[in-house]
Amino acid sequence: MKLHVLTLFPEMILQGLAPSIIGRAVEKKIISLDAVNIRDYTLDKHGKVDDYTYGGGAGMLMQAQPVYDAWKAASGGKKIRTIYLTPQGTPFTQNLAKELAKEEELIFLCGHYEGIDERVLEEVVTDFVSIGDYVLTGGELPAMVMIDAVARLVPGVLGNDTSAEEESFHNDLLEYPQYSRPESWHEKRVPEVLLSGNHAKIMKWRLEQSETRTLRFRPDLYEKYREKQHLIKQLSKDKRNNIHMMESLSRGKGEILYRDGNNLIIFDREASTCMLKAEKTETATKLSERLPEAKWIIVNQEFVKEVLVTAGYGLWGECNQYLYTAKESLPVRYKAIRSLTTEDVPYVSSRYKHDTEEYIRERILAGEIYGAFDGDRQIGFIGLHNEGSMGLLYVEEEYRRQGIAESLEAFCINRCLEKGWTPYGHVLTDNTASEKLQDKLRFYKASQSIYWLSGKTH
Ligand code: ADE
Repeated sequence: MKLHVLTLFPEMILQGLAPSIIGRAVEKKIISLDAVNIRDYTLDKHGKVDDYTYGGGAGMLMQAQPVYDAWKAASGGKKIRTIYLTPQGTPFTQNLAKELAKEEELIFLCGHYEGIDERVLEEVVTDFVSIGDYVLTGGELPAMVMIDAVARLVPGVLGNDTSAEEESFHNDLLEYPQYSRPESWHEKRVPEVLLSGNHAKIMKWRLEQSETRTLRFRPDLYEKYREKQHLIKQLSKDKRNNIHMMESLSRGKGEILYRDGNNLIIFDREASTCMLKAEKTETATKLSERLPEAKWIIVNQEFVKEVLVTAGYGLWGECNQYLYTAKESLPVRYKAIRSLTTEDVPYVSSRYKHDTEEYIRERILAGEIYGAFDGDRQIGFIGLHNEGSMGLLYVEEEYRRQGIAESLEAFCINRCLEKGWTPYGHVLTDNTASEKLQDKLRFYKASQSIYWLSGKTH
């Protein structure tokens, strides 16, 4: 990942980050960080970059010309996401950090004095972001905060693979308390349950602690969490048909964008996917007007599909939804299966034609594509799509009918179960081979079809 910071204080960025984990990642060339001095680009012979504001008011404003030229130099004319740090921006969140961590290149623009001439902001900025409701003297500290939060999510930056699922803010909950040796300190003992070795009990205790903490310190987050839990419960009344929405919410991916009784829009921003449900045609029309820009829209009601097609969305395919409700893991008979790495991108994308190479790379980096091997030879793969469904299944022609697809599915199911997820998948209605496999593995088939529509950003 390449990071550029446009600033009047480049040394503040470089020296501030150098001794940190992010500095080490720069040394190891996992990320690159370049601080561009905006003053180097001024055409003013005295090196001036600011002037008084039109209409009066206290303080000076950074002028458009040096900012624009510094931005042009950093971007090299490419379309790069450019973030302006400002208290007037949208609040920075872990979700935005996750979204930005997927970009190959980012530009951070740091303002000073009273801000920057609006005209250059209009031309270069894609995101206006605030790190909190307080005013700092410049955008450098906020840029460093954002760089730290984003860069640590880039694979390879942190030594250990921290699990995003257990961090604070995942699923709108704060993290539970943690303890290390000794077992007793200042006469305070480590909670007994953590010494029990009972994984299920420990998970339950941690969830309760997370809930209690969130309610106490962040009632705003807790309210969001409760609303989601309530909706998941409602949706579970028709689990087979609603599993895609339930899993999107419970895995901490989808947000409730709109809800009025049985009219619902869930939006997974990272996957650029909307899922919706409506009570009747009129409300479906209203919902379609509220849809955000997204690559994909998933619906499981035929009349909603009709409304969306009429509104100009393209029908990509009709699928059957399958879900695996058993809690036990499955035997994996074919043993040589493991997570793929980015070296495997060309192999997967040359075999799997439904998605782009960029998408395959992103899925591999997420650790959610698994491959089967015969010695060094790759012979197949399976994975999870970014909105949560199982898919991306492929086995080389000469290795078919030997149970390898079954083993790949079992392997993927087991990974989902380990995370506490319910595995589910969407099978195109004409793919009888895949339908047979789902039946064999004791997946349940939902009664309603799932329709995938391409959003207007396609
Ligand atoms: N610049 C000054 N204050 C800021 C804040 N709170 N967030 C982002 N940029 C800023």
